[in-house]
Amino acid sequence: MKPKLIVLLPAIALASFVPLLTAASPAPAAMAPAEGSALYRQRCIGCHSVEAGRNNPAGPNLAGIVGRQAAAGEFGYSPALRKSKFTWTRAKLDEFLAGPSSLVPGTRMVIGVSNAVERKAIIDYLASCKS
Ligand code: HEC
Repeated sequence: MKPKLIVLLPAIALASFVPLLTAASPAPAAMAPAEGSALYRQRCIGCHSVEAGRNNPAGPNLAGIVGRQAAAGEFGYSPALRKSKFTWTRAKLDEFLAGPSSLVPGTRMVIGVSNAVERKAIIDYLASCKS
């Protein structure tokens, strides 16, 4: 009897612990608008300005990017992005940020954002930056 109990006890302890662990892993939650702007400042502002009319030599201005045609800013775009004739919707921006060269092979924008919650926060922030 005794050896069985010894084997069983850790199993019971584990079984009651596992649901606790899975319950603790958070579902992807939305981020506050301020976090989108903070992420933008960390990861994008080095190359992109969101102030209307202000140009950064390292990347096109992104003010009013949601709803704008791709490669329509004042910038020396890659032939690849110039050839892509789509409009930046939120869905397109999400796809681009998830993997820039998957959506536009040959693009010079190489910075991706792998986390979907962070992408959404950045896109929300961009949508608030009007041209
Ligand atoms: C190292 C510089 C650099 C960083 C950092 C960078 N980008 Fe870019 N981005 C570029 C360049 C260069 C292009 C133009 C790409 C081309 O011509 O193929 C571009 C293009 C874009 C475009 C398309 C613009 C248009 O007018 O069609 C979007 C949208 C964009 N970037 C978003 C972002 C976001 C959001 C971030 C931060 C997560 C970011 N970029 C970080 C350099 C950068």
